[in-house]
Amino acid sequence: SHDVEESWDDEFQQLVQTFPKDKSFTGMTLYFFQGFWCPSIILKDVISCQKHFQAFDSNIIIATLPKCGTTWLKALTFSTLYRNQFARENNPLLTYNPHSLVRFIGYDFYFNDSCPDLENCTLYQPRLFSIHLPYASLPTSIKDSNYKIVYLCRNPMDTLISFWASQERSSKILFLQYEYLKEDINSHLKKLAMFLGVPFTEEEEKQGVVEEIAKICSFENMKDLEVNKKGMQTFGYPQETFSRKTKTFEVPCEAFFRKAKMGDWSNYLTPFMVERLEKLIKEKLENSGLTF
Ligand code: A3P
Repeated sequence: SHDVEESWDDEFQQLVQTFPKDKSFTGMTLYFFQGFWCPSIILKDVISCQKHFQAFDSNIIIATLPKCGTTWLKALTFSTLYRNQFARENNPLLTYNPHSLVRFIGYDFYFNDSCPDLENCTLYQPRLFSIHLPYASLPTSIKDSNYKIVYLCRNPMDTLISFWASQERSSKILFLQYEYLKEDINSHLKKLAMFLGVPFTEEEEKQGVVEEIAKICSFENMKDLEVNKKGMQTFGYPQETFSRKTKTFEVPCEAFFRKAKMGDWSNYLTPFMVERLEKLIKEKLENSGLTF
């Protein structure tokens, strides 16, 4: 396996030399891969994951680009999907950051030369994972299986300020937009539950379960939880069952909770920057049907 790893290293080094290269506004090296600019630090994992990821039907995946509201969507989906698997007052969200509860394929699992044991790595059923990739770069085994995909996007300028956009519609993809979630969370939670195959019953609706999930996952509630104020979130593959190699990194949980506002970009971008971005957004999203 060590040899396989080394030869994949060499192959990767040769491969990236064929990709167009640039730098992001934060100074990160980017490679143009499958229609998107991909940070060099994750590209190898993206390709390994595309090669080796084996999707099992009836699992669910949250696909987002960073800073689109991933943390919120993880909280909402987890709380909705598994609501009958724990007592309400014991919702694990109260003690864990959503990134501990819904793991990232690509960051949290090691794919270098095979698919890790994803069947035995989550507590609840059906299994829920997340991924930070545009639709075009999703492993084909996800696209070809009955995986349900919940895809969330956000106004690119707010996404930029908070720190990409791609979409495709079909019955196995629920396409969500941050702005509309903010506007009316209850009706979107019902849509999400329906899509996940766990629609809210009339009884649950009468009892206010929808509102309760919206509230527990709200920015105001989550940002004030002890775990999210003081905790550190570990990404990577620390547990031996998930991988054979240790590679982890830590992010303070508070980094996932900034302002959660729409249009906060206007407080940071100059008119020149706005003009450039609007032009770019129009160019890229013109025929997408998306409006922000
Ligand atoms: P801002 O930086 O605009 O405040 P991600 O989870 O993909 O990294 O996205 C982070 C963005 O989602 C941040 O936006 C963060 O404040 C916002 N966010 C985090 N939790 C949220 C919640 N429960 N409800 C709404 N927005 C939330």
